[in-house]
Amino acid sequence: MNDSGNRTIKLGVIGLGRAFGLMLPTFAGDRRVSVVAAADTREAARQRFVADFGGKAYATAEELCADPAIDAVYVATPHQFHAQHALLAARHGKHLLIEKPLALTLADCAAIVAAARAAKVHLVVGHSHSFDAPVQRLRALVQSGAYGAVRMINAINYTDYLYRPRRPEELDSAQGGGAVYNQAAHQVDVVRFIAGGAATSVRAITGAWDRTRPTEGAYAALLTFANGAFASLTYNGYGHFDSDEWQGWIGEMGQKKAPGTGVPRKSFATLQDETAFKNARNYGGENYSRGNPTPPAAHNHFGTLLVSCDRADLRAMPNGVMIYEDGVGRLDALPPPAVPRSEVIDELYRAIVDDVAPLHDGAWAMATMEVVFAILRSAREGCDVTLSYQVALA
Ligand SMILES: NC(=O)c1ccc[n+]([C@@H]2O[C@H](COP(=O)([O-])OP(=O)(O)OC[C@H]3O[C@@H](n4cnc5c(N)ncnc54)[C@H](O)[C@@H]3O)[C@@H](O)[C@H]2O)c1
Repeated sequence: MNDSGNRTIKLGVIGLGRAFGLMLPTFAGDRRVSVVAAADTREAARQRFVADFGGKAYATAEELCADPAIDAVYVATPHQFHAQHALLAARHGKHLLIEKPLALTLADCAAIVAAARAAKVHLVVGHSHSFDAPVQRLRALVQSGAYGAVRMINAINYTDYLYRPRRPEELDSAQGGGAVYNQAAHQVDVVRFIAGGAATSVRAITGAWDRTRPTEGAYAALLTFANGAFASLTYNGYGHFDSDEWQGWIGEMGQKKAPGTGVPRKSFATLQDETAFKNARNYGGENYSRGNPTPPAAHNHFGTLLVSCDRADLRAMPNGVMIYEDGVGRLDALPPPAVPRSEVIDELYRAIVDDVAPLHDGAWAMATMEVVFAILRSAREGCDVTLSYQVALA
């Protein structure tokens, strides 16, 4: 357990779905936060929350945000509600932890950033995989200057993304569905973090190859950066090859995984049936399983990340960073996490308690979303897209 610091941040959660389930081990294991209240439209989730946490459960986000016991609100509702819920929480003076993607338009991203500034509250956007300890270590190695400038980044991930149970809007790109909004938000964040943040242009192609799930399931994108670095991003969510094989069969959450255990392509008669299936497996649902309570074997990851610097190639691994120099590799090892994703709480805690501006703030997340929107536009129009809202790291 991480119990550094004397203050406990009292957190209210809006949206007790899959994202909350993934953050639950973090909230339960890190004493710097205590989840004291939640809001969800599903009654089963509210009942389970009261049983598990003994906290207050509200049917609406408005009631939760008005609760004076809460310091910060974790917005974990579907993307289309992020702006509405973030603005509401900021109006009530609550600090914000908002799930990726920040919002579905640049105007909504800007509105969230402005609302947090006006309310003088801190805003952290995550979890995103640029929080992962191996990615943070890789960035520190780059910053040390020992390996020279970052020149080229390759980020590759093959998953079963498209065939996990979905809500209807998750399969509709117009409503924020598909691999670009949902998965590029991670991959772009990671490569911006390593390359210094300020991307300059994007050229991309997307693939939507399954008519029964008519949204992007794959993309390839080439990003250029102000410092001359470039990054190639490849994602395939069609569930054939699983690139966790290249991570020694460690899954995205750092868990050990048996080889070749993808999600079977379950078919549903209607989209409503699929939503019901998803909700039944979500927090409070009849098929909900909290999963293995023991800490994961390794760190979260988002597929292969290989960074070429002047004097070395650096590869993020679930258990550290491989450093390759002149054909010889060695592991800069990281012990497994005591609490997964505690890096998110590090940033949130430093912001709220010590008033240190977080790296993953609204402007950072808006810049990531600008790249995400540019991937879609570049693919649609067949053009390079120039970027103008980028944020460089100090
Ligand atoms: N960082 C990650 O690893 C990660 C993983 C999964 C999801 N996410 C993000 O989390 C967000 C939610 O996705 P999800 O997969 O958890 O969705 P989900 O459908 O599993 O859960 C959403 C929850 O919000 C509730 N909800 C919906 N509308 C609401 C409202 N108006 N007021 C209160 N509650 C409401 C639903 O009942 C449900 O419990 C998305 O933005 C997604 O991108 C992030």
